[in-house]
Amino acid sequence: MTEAVDAAGGPGLTLAQKASLTSGGDAWHTRAIPTAGISAVMVADGPHGLRKQTATGADALALSVSTRATCFPPATGLGSSWNTGLIEQVGRAIGREAAAEGVSVVLGPAVNIKRSPLGGRNFEYFSEDPLLTGWAGAAFVRGLQSTGVGASVKHFAVNNQETDRMRVSADVDERTLREIYLPAFEHILSTEQPATVMAAYNKVNGVHCSQHHWLLTEVLREEWGFQGLVVSDWGAVVDGVAALAAGLDLEMPPRLGGPAELAAAVAGGELAESALDAAAARVLALAARPAVGGRVDFDAQHELACQAALESAVLLKNDDAVLPLAAGDQLAVVGEFARSPRYQGGGSSHVLPTRVADALSAIRALVPDPGRVSFAAGFTLDGQPDPRLVAEAVALAGRARTVLVFLGLPEPAESEGLDRTQLDLPADQLALLDALAEVHDRIVVVLSNGSPVTTAPWQHRAAAILEGWLLGQAGGSAIAQLLFGLANPSGKLAESLPVRLRDTPAYLHFPGGDGHVRYGEGIYVGYRYYDTLEMPVAYPFGHGLSYTSFGYDGLRCRRIGVNAFEVSFTITNTGRRSGAEIAQLYIRPIDPGLDRPVHELKSFTKVSLAPGASSTVTLTLDERAFAYWSPGRSCWTVDAGAAEIQVGASSRDLRLRERVRLDGSPERSPLTADSTLGEWFGTPAGERLHAAITAAGHADALGLADGKLPPMPAATPLSRLVSFLPGLAADQVEEFVRAARDTRTGHHRS
Ligand code: BGC
Repeated sequence: MTEAVDAAGGPGLTLAQKASLTSGGDAWHTRAIPTAGISAVMVADGPHGLRKQTATGADALALSVSTRATCFPPATGLGSSWNTGLIEQVGRAIGREAAAEGVSVVLGPAVNIKRSPLGGRNFEYFSEDPLLTGWAGAAFVRGLQSTGVGASVKHFAVNNQETDRMRVSADVDERTLREIYLPAFEHILSTEQPATVMAAYNKVNGVHCSQHHWLLTEVLREEWGFQGLVVSDWGAVVDGVAALAAGLDLEMPPRLGGPAELAAAVAGGELAESALDAAAARVLALAARPAVGGRVDFDAQHELACQAALESAVLLKNDDAVLPLAAGDQLAVVGEFARSPRYQGGGSSHVLPTRVADALSAIRALVPDPGRVSFAAGFTLDGQPDPRLVAEAVALAGRARTVLVFLGLPEPAESEGLDRTQLDLPADQLALLDALAEVHDRIVVVLSNGSPVTTAPWQHRAAAILEGWLLGQAGGSAIAQLLFGLANPSGKLAESLPVRLRDTPAYLHFPGGDGHVRYGEGIYVGYRYYDTLEMPVAYPFGHGLSYTSFGYDGLRCRRIGVNAFEVSFTITNTGRRSGAEIAQLYIRPIDPGLDRPVHELKSFTKVSLAPGASSTVTLTLDERAFAYWSPGRSCWTVDAGAAEIQVGASSRDLRLRERVRLDGSPERSPLTADSTLGEWFGTPAGERLHAAITAAGHADALGLADGKLPPMPAATPLSRLVSFLPGLAADQVEEFVRAARDTRTGHHRS
């Protein structure tokens, strides 16, 4: 990479110029050096649409002034589509708009894990599951970068809350990092080579991400082979010199005096000039990316936003097939959100849309007789109770065959910079629903919310619930089409919906305090927690209904390598409408050697089928799918034994199962005097050890005489036996180890 500096005039660039390249020119551009022929590169927010600020400079916090752009469903919606092809198209569409605006890098996708449903930016994130997040994020990057525009995969890493977001230390063990919080980044980086990665605001285990050498250099570059540029989140740099030394390349926005500090540190010998050269070279490589402008067809972009919204909504409940609505029914549409849609969240991702479709107009457009649809606001967006609005809604409902109630969270409840404190819908909306339920039993609730709301207290009042999440600017049209069955719901939950806040895995720890948040639930995030504990949830991970039904059969698992399998099965549309099914593959470890979730998602597919049609799908599992991060050995490990392949329609609706046998990972650490007798005795070397101990006359004292290993010696390291066996000397223990290793086969086998 240093050659790029040379090629662009390395020897010709002064230390000060190189240092200046590693800070922005303003809030949204890299620095130009016209005398050296180096031009600036523009970056702009995503992730679900372009937010190119029209005023630039030191206004990074003035989020409202941007050019118009298509507002696609935020990741909370897109993740629920489980359609990677569609997400790739959305990425490409955003890339087209960015290229046309001269933007070289879009600041997305955001791939943090939804640790708690209270996370204030959960609407920007795809899922509670790392595999689904990684696949969705990779698809987005693939699409975006196919237009020549670079991605910025953010926020690296463990940025799962807004409370004290610029200072808090996420205190998390390495296994949890490796299994939950890093894999989405790892997958995207190793499959797509994104142009940039954004270092997060928070600390991880006490060190700011922007200057975290282990994260930015050892893991990102040395383990994963990342070649692109690391940019700071806006204002995330605390110590510019430490950041550069740790592996950060570009500080955004520029800080007064930042480049001068770096130049002085190099001159003073505190910072290696090679580190500065490498960072400057990566900035130059970014500036060298080819720009591919072009015309944008905003009608087509809106259509794609609508298609994405159609696949993002999740039909949670549909008693007595109350949906789809019959044409010609008298409808009461209730709820301000039907007229004033809630379709995105607040903060840096906020897009100024090219147009907005509201559900009320879209419903009216689908019903030829205007007299058949009446509307009452029912509540106001400020949450102030208004009995007059409720009375009006109840009166309308009384005259309708079906009542469509649009409920949800007002925008101020979900924004960057702020975590939520509870999961309930606003009280005035719940009071409205109660009043409607007094007079009606065909109530369909349509929800608009970026992160989960409790449904348990009120869902018995609704015959059907359509979880609309946040659906972007075309969401209103999509909802109308889904309600009338012009499109068939095909989204599934990318996160579990809990019964109560206190059931959630991070409840005792979120959002921490005193500068720290302890990830006490460890790897048990989302369904990994609920399903392992068999805890009731309102709706499980992966759940979503359709207007048709699907059957699963013919599971076959074929070994294609060491701990690698091809899994095939057949899905059949057993109902009377065309529809799409998201089939999920989970792996359950059988008798694992250390605690593991009862099952984990390892693959999925989405298949569209005409009524009566079948499709046989094949999913591939590699060794990593069966591995866990071993804290003892600091590596991915597969235990010899068995695992169950589970295929189903949700994490709690498993339809097919088959066991496969697994080979253990090759052992990395040889047995030593520090290994316990239990570890030794599971191996061929253990038999020789047994013989040596018996020959030395210690078998009886250890209770080995009948050939069994009692629990206490089993848990004792060989070297500690000197404390328990009178007459056993340390050099004799060494002798045991030599004897056991004699044929050089003395390795652990799990
Ligand atoms: C956010 C990033 C965003 C950046 C630029 C930060 O506050 O965390 O997601 O890309 O601002 O607007």
